[in-house]
This record gives sequence, structure tokens and C-alpha cells, in this order.
Amino acid sequence: MAAQSINATGTNPMPTQDATAAACALEAARANVSANLSQVEYLLNATYTNHHLETQVNAMCMHVINAGGKRIRPRLVLTSAPALPGYDPKRDQENICHVAASIEILHTATLVHDDVIDKAPLRRGAPTLHELEGNHAAVLAGDYLFTRCFALLQRPRNFDIIAEISRTLSQLVVGELYQLEHEGDLNLSLETYYQTIYAKTGVLFELAASAPAFLVPESTDFIAPLKTFGRELGIAFQITDDILDYSSSSATLGKDVGTDLADQRITLPVLLALRSYERAGHNAAKEQLIAAVQQADLNAVRAAIEATDALAQCKEQAQAASERAQQALAALPESAARTLLSELALKAIARNH
Ligand code: IPE
Ligand code: IPE
Ligand code: MG
Ligand code: MG
Repeated sequence: MAAQSINATGTNPMPTQDATAAACALEAARANVSANLSQVEYLLNATYTNHHLETQVNAMCMHVINAGGKRIRPRLVLTSAPALPGYDPKRDQENICHVAASIEILHTATLVHDDVIDKAPLRRGAPTLHELEGNHAAVLAGDYLFTRCFALLQRPRNFDIIAEISRTLSQLVVGELYQLEHEGDLNLSLETYYQTIYAKTGVLFELAASAPAFLVPESTDFIAPLKTFGRELGIAFQITDDILDYSSSSATLGKDVGTDLADQRITLPVLLALRSYERAGHNAAKEQLIAAVQQADLNAVRAAIEATDALAQCKEQAQAASERAQQALAALPESAARTLLSELALKAIARNH
């Protein structure tokens, strides 16, 4: 942000011309992202074949896509593109929108499968596909969404992006398996927790933030910093999701709360509560918390998390990851789009759904 002038009393600063120009540039950049997001919404709806044999699967996919969602991953793609000095909207915009839509569909496919695995009844405020159609149909609809993700990538015809998406998808699967392997593991190290959330969530944010640097010519120097930005933002986002699973309500989130405990996923709030008791030498309280987790007693686990201030510590860790994300942006030239990226890193932790 450009400097503001300070008057003689040091109060009531008037914006300088620079500050006004910067505010206008920011509004223009915001409007641009919104316009492109509308194009992405169009693509999300247009990517279905409408072949008569595919009517049922198309309807299932549309149910999830049109239930909403925050669209943070496509927003990242659309915001990091204009932050690149070589970006030319006339040449690049259409490809960027296709990649943004493709990444949102990939994300949606993983949600459909995740909800089958987690036996979740609610997603984006609507009943999940497996609730409506059964597990078998829901798994197939998720598979079909993967095909739509790759169909959208035909437009950019960029092998780097295809390679990146394939690699990301493998890591997402590995992340889910890693999580499964550690189900109910109360000895989980913080390092393993971080590796897991990077693999199951961070990698897709890493891809969303860096994909434009593979498409826009002369942007290879920006791939690494944008990956760092996306990875750290994704980690902040997942820690926040893990906090909300203990602290929010299903009406606010549009998905059930308490599912991490019900599915014996040991996440940061529990890990930090255990460590707090350990540090304080409260062995009895620690044993009680372990028993509460094993019995999936949500009220008792919530009480321990509150008693130990674990959520405040989780928020500090999410904040630290968000700050690391913002620091990585220093490698990009100053621009309105870069400011918007920074805002996205703040929103990832300030969100309540
Ligand atoms: C849910 O992602 C899965 C996580 C990585 C926590 P979002 O919170 O982005 O879900 P939607 O797309 O807004 O529904
Ligand atoms: C994100 O983890 C899983 C995916 C990568 C799909 P969660 O299991 O915490 O996601 P939610 O809470 O169901 O959205
Ligand atoms: Mg889940
Ligand atoms: Mg969750």
C-alpha cells in the first residue's frame, strides 16, 4: 500500500494521489478476479457431456458443484496469474480460467470421495451424494469428476500442467493413506501431522497458486515462491479447518462438526491439548483426555481443548503458516494482484466456514 500523508497534528491522514491510485488498482484487480470467476462458474457447468447415458452422473456432479463452496482454489489461480509480470490477459486468460475450473473440479472429486470415507452426511449445506445415491454411485460420480478435470485441461495443451496435476493427485492419495495409517494414533508427532496436512490439502493449494507460472511465458522464476505461498496457505487453511471441526457448528460450516474425532483423526487441537497437559505434569488429565478421544466423547474432548488453551495455540500455528505464505510473496514484483494474494492468506485463517 502506498504511504498516506499525515497532517500537521499527525491525525486524520488524507490519502495521497499514490494511495488513491493504489486503491483504484486494487478494486480493478478485484473486479477482474470476480469476472474471471464467473467464467470459471460457466466452465464448471459446461464441462458435462449431456450424453443421454451420462444424464444421471452429470446430475450428481452438478448437485455438488452447484451446492456452492468457497471457490478458494480457483480464486488463487485467478489471482496469482495477474501477479506475474509476463501475464497477458488476451493470450492467457482463457487458459487460466480452464485450469482454475479444472482444479476446482479435482477438489470437488476429492470431497465426494472424502465424504464416502468419512461417512459425512452434509457438504456445502446439502446432503452428500452417498446419502442420496449410495456409496457405489457416489464413488463413481467422484471418478467421473476426475475425467472432467482432465477434459478441461485439453484447452491449455500444456504438458507441465498435466504433469503437475498428476503428481498432485498422487500426493493427495498418499496423504489420505497416511492419515488412515495414523487413525487413532495418539502418539502422532507434530511433524507427521504437518506432513499429512501438506499431502492431503497443501499440495492442491501449492498447485493452484503456482499453475499460472507454468502457463505464462517467462515465469519459471516464480514457480518456487508461488509454491511456497500456496503450500503455507494450504497448511494454514487445514489447521483452521481442524480448529473449526471442534469449535464451530454444522449450520455455520455446512458440514458436520466433530467428524475428526468420530473418525479417530487425531488433529492439532487434540495433539496440542495432550502436550499442554504433559508440560504441566497433569498426567491424570492427560489420561482422561486419551480415554475421551478413544471413546470419541466430543463434549469431554472439547472441554479438555478449552481447558488447555489448545485452540489459541492452534490459531498461532495457523497464523505463522499464513505469515510464511505472505513472506514468500516478496519474490514477486509489487502489484494489486500480489496484495490480493496476501489478503487470501489472511482470509484462510480469519474464516468461520
Ligand atoms: C474442504 O475444503 C476440504 C479441506 C481441505 C478442509 P473447502 O473448505 O475449500 O471446501 P469448499 O470447496 O468451500 O466446500
Ligand atoms: C480434507 O480433510 C480432505 C480432502 C483433501 C478432501 P477433511 O476431512 O478435514 O475435510 P472436511 O472437513 O471433510 O471438509
Ligand atoms: Mg472429511
Ligand atoms: Mg475437516
